[in-house]
Amino acid sequence: MTLVRMKEILTHAEEHHYGVGAFSVANMEMVIGAIRAAEELRSPLILQIAEVRLKHSPLSIIGPMMVAAAKAAQIPVAVHFDHGLTEEKIREALEIGFTSIMYDGSHDELEKNIAETKKMTALARRYGATVEAELGQVGGSEDGSVDLEILLTSVEEAKRFVAETGIDALAIAIGNAHGMYKGDPCLRFDRLEEVDQAVEIPLVLHGGSGISEDDFRKSINLGIRKINVATATFHNVVNAVNTGRPFSDYFSYHERVIEAAAESVKRHMRMFQSVGRV
Ligand code: 13P
Repeated sequence: MTLVRMKEILTHAEEHHYGVGAFSVANMEMVIGAIRAAEELRSPLILQIAEVRLKHSPLSIIGPMMVAAAKAAQIPVAVHFDHGLTEEKIREALEIGFTSIMYDGSHDELEKNIAETKKMTALARRYGATVEAELGQVGGSEDGSVDLEILLTSVEEAKRFVAETGIDALAIAIGNAHGMYKGDPCLRFDRLEEVDQAVEIPLVLHGGSGISEDDFRKSINLGIRKINVATATFHNVVNAVNTGRPFSDYFSYHERVIEAAAESVKRHMRMFQSVGRV
């Protein structure tokens, strides 16, 4: 088991009714931690990085490392380019060997989103990669720089978007938001159910940090197959190194980062019911 296309992972999840975590990473320790968690729990894994994070973790460095780590893993791992915004970076990720990309045209008008998503889908197909795209507007933003208002995915638009673009997975907006939720998240399961009935492809829930286990279960029951988690892992790592307990040397710090990332990933894999699936 090794590097696989995200579509294979999502198809298995669809057949067996569970969710797969797509965990954002920013450095080698987080990559090792996520893979350690998945191997320990025998869970499939999606490793991802978003385009807005590349100013901290350059794609030319972290990309090949993610692909190499996936190839060496004992469980299936898809390497995914999250919230791709530019053709240049999407192409670079595909050249490096990412097996999946998301094109995010959700801030554009529907017509433009369809046209650009079609272009990126055609590009990804040349590499045999899986494609995710988004419709509606998830709240917050991936790096917390803006606070976008939540705009629910329209059922009619979802139908048309999926049919015209030929994508493999659809990220939807049902009250979910990136970053930490200001109050308790209030997910619109009625809309999720309607979109799931209207389209045939797996659905993706962004903004996984802070959603309750109960809401994850309901979402998975209603068709969510990929769940993105970033902030929760970053917070767990920061909290683990901020305890005030001094490190005896650099390598004990390094190990604490790996373990903190692994711990958060495992907690989410259990909630997503992806444990023991491989
Ligand atoms: P969180 O940071 O809220 O977990 O969201 C992650 C995400 O959706 C990345 O695309």
